[in-house]
Amino acid sequence: MKDTYILAIESSCDETSVSIVKNGKEDIATIINSQINVHTKYGGVVPEVASRLHLENITIVINECLEKANMKLEQIDAFACTYAPGLLGSLLVGVETAKTLSYIFKKPLIAVNHMMGHIYANMIGNDIKYPVLSLIISGGHTDLIIMENENKFRYLGQTLDDAIGECYDKIARIMSLPYPGGPNVEKYALEGKDTYQMPTILNDNSYNFSFSGLKSHTNNKVHNMKQRNEEINKYDLACSFQNAAVKHLISKTKKALIDTQIKTLLISGGVASNNFIRNSLKEMCNELNVQMIMPEKKYCTDNATMIGAAAYILYKNNEFASLDLNAKSTVSL
Ligand code: KG4
Ligand code: ZN
Repeated sequence: MKDTYILAIESSCDETSVSIVKNGKEDIATIINSQINVHTKYGGVVPEVASRLHLENITIVINECLEKANMKLEQIDAFACTYAPGLLGSLLVGVETAKTLSYIFKKPLIAVNHMMGHIYANMIGNDIKYPVLSLIISGGHTDLIIMENENKFRYLGQTLDDAIGECYDKIARIMSLPYPGGPNVEKYALEGKDTYQMPTILNDNSYNFSFSGLKSHTNNKVHNMKQRNEEINKYDLACSFQNAAVKHLISKTKKALIDTQIKTLLISGGVASNNFIRNSLKEMCNELNVQMIMPEKKYCTDNATMIGAAAYILYKNNEFASLDLNAKSTVSL
């Protein structure tokens, strides 16, 4: 079969990323232009600033990617973009660019759901045998999804309130650590001890998650300690929070694996780049004799390679978008 080269664009939040992916599995070239330095000044992503920067950068990033791949736009078989979910103004930049390229070069347009992209980051360098249980842990999602085959998703559970990444970011803010919070909380936790008591969370029979209790508990604790002029050990607090959050993540994922008897776990999303989480989930899977597949860390946080991998699944199924494609801020799988 002829090789398929897809040029994919990801612009749902604060990364302008373009990738050329071969047959959904091989990362030919990927460029990620992060806006992190700009948003750090504001302590979080400012949507208007994000979309303006995507607009300024998108053609530069496309050209850099083509140069790195040593390819021309004429050699591309299809153009893909993230169309949802995310920041509307940011998504629109990727969507309109992919539409324009598809129109000019008369090649199919593929609209990718960002969450599907996160899951298929696992295809890069791995052969996946279905059924699998897929755990997405990102800034907006904490989902447990059963996949009977590569294009069939069934929700088993999800967060009832905050996503785990959102909770890491809020804990960082409470402790006055810089944006983005997740990686900083991980760094602090590494040097701390589990000394602060944390509440037990959603210890029920469902496959759902809840992280808002941990957030409010930590917030109240820090507030009370400040009022009493007590010194907060940020390292120990980060460690205690992370241990409690991961214990909850593991307990629900373990229950899902035991109850469904599925023998492969995929993990994905920005939080899946956390070493402590990767190792803890791996240990649990070893205990259950379950195979765990995880993307390389660089494919966990937002990137266009994962969009190219997901686009290939749609390409194979002839699921193309039309030129009236629009961006959407929310959508399910
Ligand atoms: O998947 P992603 O890049 O964007 C979304 O689709 O949300 O995930 C971003 C989230 C942020 O909340 C960020 O703080 C978190 O992933 N994150 C981490 C780590 N790296 C990124 N959380 C914990 N530990 C990390 N090392
Ligand atoms: Zn993401």
